[in-house]
Amino acid sequence: MKKYRTIYLLITLMFTLGFNSCEKEDAEIEFDTIPVANEALDIRPTEFRISWQPIFRSSGYQLDVSLDETFSTFVSGYNSKSINGFQEIITDLSNNTRYFYRVRGLLNGVPTENSNVVSVVTRFIPDEVITLKSSASNFFVGVAVNPDRIADSQYMEVYEREFNSVTAENAMKMANIITGIDAMMNISYDWSKADAIVDYAEEKGMNIHGHALIWHESVPNALTNFTGTDAQFEAIVEDYITTTVTRYKDKVDSWDVVNEAIIDNSTSLRASIFRQKMGENYLEKCFQFARNADPNVKLFYNDYNMVTDPLKRSGALREIDKLIASNLLDGVGYQMHINIENPSEAEMQTATNELVSRNVLIHYSELDVRTNLNGQSTTFTEQRSFAQSDKVREVTRVYNSIPDANKYALTLWGLKDDDSWITPRFNVLDWPLLFDNEFGKKEAYSGFIEGLQ
Ligand code: XIL
Repeated sequence: MKKYRTIYLLITLMFTLGFNSCEKEDAEIEFDTIPVANEALDIRPTEFRISWQPIFRSSGYQLDVSLDETFSTFVSGYNSKSINGFQEIITDLSNNTRYFYRVRGLLNGVPTENSNVVSVVTRFIPDEVITLKSSASNFFVGVAVNPDRIADSQYMEVYEREFNSVTAENAMKMANIITGIDAMMNISYDWSKADAIVDYAEEKGMNIHGHALIWHESVPNALTNFTGTDAQFEAIVEDYITTTVTRYKDKVDSWDVVNEAIIDNSTSLRASIFRQKMGENYLEKCFQFARNADPNVKLFYNDYNMVTDPLKRSGALREIDKLIASNLLDGVGYQMHINIENPSEAEMQTATNELVSRNVLIHYSELDVRTNLNGQSTTFTEQRSFAQSDKVREVTRVYNSIPDANKYALTLWGLKDDDSWITPRFNVLDWPLLFDNEFGKKEAYSGFIEGLQ
């Protein structure tokens, strides 16, 4: 009796399995009778590549491309266009335009039903009259410069045409301004480089962002080797901040007061010389010195990896919240040294929302987008150029989503690729900026403007 029951169970099991697999096959055949159109690839200003999943026993395909989703009209040459393969490059299109496509198979010469409809927007080419600054409403578009560039007329022409804000790449850092501290604790200064940038920008009516009063990577030897007391150290820092901010009062519009105070992958303050000698609340002290020197200048905290490193961001936000509570902070700079893969647009949005909810000014302060991630490439390929453009477009799209009252500036960390700090600093070839070495506008330039449309 038990034996029959086992046989019965086995037969039932086989029947069930067999039946199910038949059902699955049926479903596949049905699915296969209509092609599935894939998302477009290699999207360019005037063309894109489409493909679809082939169907069983098809003798060919018919392709429709249209400007409207209902296919009431067709792009010339793409009304039931016969195609033998499984892909097609659609050419001669208009830039920045939405197209729709669908495809049918042919079974014994008879068209199947239409595939899904896929929509795609061709890339944007800005017209000649658009510039970076004219495409940005309610915020400045800035660039980091070095004073030796002021003599380069071609450079300055592009700089004035495209930008309305400036940051000194190095000239306003402490180690480049302080030349010594004598036994009486008098500081000696060299203002020549900082003045050159400020004077030029003032003459051209540009916004000037001061960068940076306190940065652990720019400590003059005289301060590193300082042997006085902590109180004396603090007095020198106060003197420096007061003198510098006062000198540029009514000229410099905003200052990064403290730059990069938080350790990577951590919420802790870096054990910089300032932290060591002035204590846990050195940020508040420095911001207060700056505020005392010029109550009108906007005061910023600035740091890198604020999008990709949530721990570090939460450490920085802790400091930012303290400064807000003491009424000492106007804005925050996210540096935005990023790459073509990271961060995602959603991550940028999340990190930016943290600042919007705190109602501070937001500066994307040092944008550059690395492309040579494994360090192996020796040329800037077209593919990487478009990937870079996509990432820049995401950056400006997120920036543009900020309420006007919280927008401040979006600053590129250099004008053309061979200006960039990336190659000397990381010892790797790269092309991280919006202009090539001949001042030509790169795809990323178009991406920047496209994100602001
Ligand atoms: C960099 C400059 O671009 C380099 O020329 C210099 O040698 C080092 O500093 N974060 C900052 C900037 O806040 O000041 C740094 O600038 C890049 C990283």
